[in-house]
Amino acid sequence: MEFIAHRGLSGAAPENSATAFSLGMDRGLRWTELDVLFTADDVAVVCHDDHLLRFGHDLHISERLWAELSDLDMGSWYAPEFSAERMLTLAEAIDLLAGRQTGVNIELKSELFGQLGATRSQGLTQCVQQALKGGLQLVLSSFDPRLVGWCRTHCPEVPRAVLVEGPFAPAHEQLAELVGASAIHLEDPHTSRKDVQRVRDMGLDCRVYTINDAQRAAELAAWGCAGIFTDILVPGDLN
Ligand code: G3P
Ligand code: MG
Repeated sequence: MEFIAHRGLSGAAPENSATAFSLGMDRGLRWTELDVLFTADDVAVVCHDDHLLRFGHDLHISERLWAELSDLDMGSWYAPEFSAERMLTLAEAIDLLAGRQTGVNIELKSELFGQLGATRSQGLTQCVQQALKGGLQLVLSSFDPRLVGWCRTHCPEVPRAVLVEGPFAPAHEQLAELVGASAIHLEDPHTSRKDVQRVRDMGLDCRVYTINDAQRAAELAAWGCAGIFTDILVPGDLN
């Protein structure tokens, strides 16, 4: 079972930061998950929230130019020693991850639906190509089915996953078939053994978020999960 550093190893450093990504790789997690949004001037950036209040800034990424965001302190909210952390562009994050033994799950945040015009589509596909050239294994995912559809149209060669919020339902299975998904990403604590089996019976990989308890991780591994998203666990925690 793969351990996927959720927003990087975000239990040990600010989420989606360079340090969180490095720590995940340093501690033996072979996959990294990150979240993507766009600035007002069409720069793909790595951040979970459009509104940056949680990080100490009353600003919206979608309303600001990259030049207004690039120098924000994105680490002090977590701990003072991370005050040098800056928001990463998706291209910067891919550069950082390329060449290391990591796969990358790029999650397109639902806010992006309806916002992916020609310029952004081109920007995203360029980043995907950059990642593939850099030797990174990739999975694209989204909670928004229409964005998973975007992935199928624009990056057909890259595996894509349907992200499920709440209980796993037949509609998710139908969607996964419709968009040609290779995986379904389920939410805990809603995930049952039967759910994992249903995904596996479809011939798809089942990955579960967000697992920070080693016992639960071991149970999911025993059920045949292909991966867990974790903020803090490392592969050795299963032994
Ligand atoms: O991709 C798995 C997980 O990251 C989805 O939820 O809200 O943490 O992006 P969220
Ligand atoms: Mg995410």
